Amino acid sequence: MFSKIFGSATKPATVTILPADISFIVEPKKTVLLSALDQNIKYPHYCRVGSCGTCKSKLISGQVRELTDKSYTLSNEDIQAGYILACQSVPKTDLVLEVPKLRVE
Ligand code: FES
Repeated sequence: MFSKIFGSATKPATVTILPADISFIVEPKKTVLLSALDQNIKYPHYCRVGSCGTCKSKLISGQVRELTDKSYTLSNEDIQAGYILACQSVPKTDLVLEVPKLRVE
């Protein structure tokens, strides 16, 4: 019931990042960015509150619940192309994201 109201997943989601080809688990109600950082993944970020755009990521597949309105930070072109803000996105399903700046060392 709660998940239907708020659209959140009730089980962990798997997030795969391309082109680095890494995957990690996001627990219910956690953002993509916080989960990545908790697992020592060097996800590009700065403000963590949806205002800088550093965590901009292209949603290739899956669905997210967005905590804030990304149109204040992303351009219309970015939104049309499927970009989301990882710091403001909670997975509703498993996700595939494209994050060219994320490098595995
Ligand atoms: S870290 Fe600044 S918008 Fe996500």
